[in-house]
Amino acid sequence: MRKDTSPALPHFRWTGLDVGGLLPDGWRAEVSGLAARSSDTRRYPVTPFLTRESPFFEGGVHRGRVRADAVERDLPWLAESYRGVFRDFAEEVAGEPVRTSHDPRYSVVLNILSAPDMRFECHVDTNPLTGLLFCTDNPQGTGGELTVAHDTAARGPAEIDRNCAVLHPRAGHLVFFDGRRNPHYARALTAPGLRVTAIMNYYTASVPEESTRPRGLNTHLFGQE
Ligand SMILES: [Fe+2]
Repeated sequence: MRKDTSPALPHFRWTGLDVGGLLPDGWRAEVSGLAARSSDTRRYPVTPFLTRESPFFEGGVHRGRVRADAVERDLPWLAESYRGVFRDFAEEVAGEPVRTSHDPRYSVVLNILSAPDMRFECHVDTNPLTGLLFCTDNPQGTGGELTVAHDTAARGPAEIDRNCAVLHPRAGHLVFFDGRRNPHYARALTAPGLRVTAIMNYYTASVPEESTRPRGLNTHLFGQE
């Protein structure tokens, strides 16, 4: 009888594909233009329920964000892709019916890093499937990696970095993952540049939208439930 000595596979997986050829000419410049025009750049307090910053962390996380209403207005092709071809891919990945958000406040948002003291908060997601479109190239050695802990108990960048999957942003690459258990964040840039990602919330038949948002989260993010 064969003895199975294979190590356990990591729980965290992602599926990636290059959708750059599906996007309109000049899409990267359109995204960067909107990021430059409309980014709400400030120090954000950590997110209730979902933060996975160290318990000793204080002071918020400096980053930029473009809200979903601006994305819907200024990047209509991205909003259409979110509800169209990207959703179709998401459904293949999930293996079950996938829905987009009913709530326009968290359909597609842009996250922006443009200075060396900016990064994204260590956190977990509420939705069962996240789509992330990298909109800039941030090659190895320049920072901005999406970093996902294999250890679901990790707190803060140092613990996440200790044992993690690392994805280097490449414009046009779309990744799907379930980020509900594995803490993740975007590392700071280590060279002058810009990092922009489009974050898309998807929901499945088994985990519908209504079941995913902790009470009080919308008040924290948007000022009302
Ligand atoms: Fe996330």
